[in-house]
Amino acid sequence: MIEKIFQEKDFIPAEMPENLPAQWNDKVSAYSNIAIIKYWGKKGMQIPMNASLSFWLPQSLTQTGVQIHLLDNPTKEVYFEFKFEGKNNPAFNEKIAVFFKRIEKYAPYLKYYKWFFESTNNFPHSAGIASSASGFAALAKLLINFEKMIFPSTNDKFLTAKASFLARLGSGSASRSVVGRVAVWGKHPLIPYSNDFYAIDYPLEIHPEFNRMVDLILLLEKEKKAVSSSQGHRLIENHPFKIQRIDQAQEHLTELISALRSGDWELFGKITESEALSLHAMMMTSSPPYLLINPDTVKWIKIVQQVRKESKIPIFFTLDAGANIHVIYPLKQEKKLRTFIPELFELEAVRNLI
Ligand code: PMV
Repeated sequence: MIEKIFQEKDFIPAEMPENLPAQWNDKVSAYSNIAIIKYWGKKGMQIPMNASLSFWLPQSLTQTGVQIHLLDNPTKEVYFEFKFEGKNNPAFNEKIAVFFKRIEKYAPYLKYYKWFFESTNNFPHSAGIASSASGFAALAKLLINFEKMIFPSTNDKFLTAKASFLARLGSGSASRSVVGRVAVWGKHPLIPYSNDFYAIDYPLEIHPEFNRMVDLILLLEKEKKAVSSSQGHRLIENHPFKIQRIDQAQEHLTELISALRSGDWELFGKITESEALSLHAMMMTSSPPYLLINPDTVKWIKIVQQVRKESKIPIFFTLDAGANIHVIYPLKQEKKLRTFIPELFELEAVRNLI
């Protein structure tokens, strides 16, 4: 059990150790995650407007390795090279440079080294699966492993919280990719220790009904999305439905707590689908408005709803900030579902056991 909520100042190391290792290397992996309650809109430095809850995606992961070399003197800017799938990627470099700038106060050792990163995703490149969550989570985990080595007496709970805190400063959803299967990020009155600075393991009861589920991500569109999540978050600042959306998300989470506790698939599904559609409705009603779903998204949403009605199988959809749909159902129903709708399993997809 977590005993306290760490504060921002807790994550600033008091001082650097005297004997830093000359070299170090490590490799970690981090899962992506899918939000059931969506984070959409932020304030200040990556502070969410509402609490979000996600499940991990163990079959959609990033692996990142690092080699570091001690410098004679600390640099002004963090020196790093980052290769994604063997290549330099200017867009990633830019995001990582911003990330390091944001976290240098909490990770002052960054400037004492040259950092060489090599990263890969196990899901197809540009498959439209959010990779920033697993990508920044992997970076944060590496930094935390380094901290564990230079500050050996630091407690593991603190380090996990700090990994999430750092990951959040790269990408909000990444904060949820360093904890366990079900993560909560953002303060909610019914969830003890939930807070806006880092994600925690969902501390309340989850009914065994939700123990083994499948998230089948249908790869309906592979292009880079037209409007990035960062732009989308910005459009919430002056959004006409901003307040209503914050209230809705907080209420949905309250209802979800009870669905998760009682094993109520119907309520779980209702909230899940409502959250997905609300996320996209916020995009469609932003100024300027935009649309990320495509005709295939709508087609498969309708099919999922029809299959649910006819088969009585609890099968639901959710969406990320893109056109691909996540189809969620209990693993024990998969055989029946394959007979009922074989076409669903013939599409290009990434299957996660969640
Ligand atoms: O973490 P960001 O800034 O890429 O935002 C992600 C937002 C959604 O994926 C749409 C929702 C969520 O909570 O993951």
